[in-house]
Amino acid sequence: MTNGPSTALVQAGTIRPEDFGNHITRRLSSMKGQYLDQTAYERMLGQEDSLLYEVYELLRPEKEGELLSGLSIVHPGKVGNEYFMTKGHFHEVLETAEIYLCLSGRGMMVMETPEGDWSVKELTPGVSLYVPPRWAHRSVNTGASEDLVTYFIYPAHAGHDYGTIETRGFRKLVTEGADGPQIIDNPKWVEAAV
Ligand SMILES: [Fe+2]
Repeated sequence: MTNGPSTALVQAGTIRPEDFGNHITRRLSSMKGQYLDQTAYERMLGQEDSLLYEVYELLRPEKEGELLSGLSIVHPGKVGNEYFMTKGHFHEVLETAEIYLCLSGRGMMVMETPEGDWSVKELTPGVSLYVPPRWAHRSVNTGASEDLVTYFIYPAHAGHDYGTIETRGFRKLVTEGADGPQIIDNPKWVEAAV
């Protein structure tokens, strides 16, 4: 496992982690209940509280008119046969969008709306992905050994609603199948109360 961004862009100094003031780290222990294979999760956690992903964010006032931007780095690995991924969230202000630009690695963005639409888009270097307003989003590193690094920009007043995903999960999961990454229904997904 690598400990920092390894993209050509980052190495060239175009986008440097030290330019972003806020460094957030998420470990396996913060993903309780999110992975399908709970036995594998507990076993892994018993050995090491692995670093799953990191976010470097440019600190700006969280108010309308401002933008928040930074780097998201999801490390490679799996819990059972499910890839390392971010917690995923809706924006608190639901009607706000986000743009992700994949800098290096390989992965997928899992998305869904409160209305029941879902989408999974591939992330490869150079791919710019627009996450429209109302869509929850989670990035998944499907690479065998490389970090998935994306650059993101979103309205600074958007806020994060992690709770909905923590409670309900995403409708779709990305797991390793016989022929590589596959999208499966999440059997633990919980429909929201009407
Ligand atoms: Fe977001």
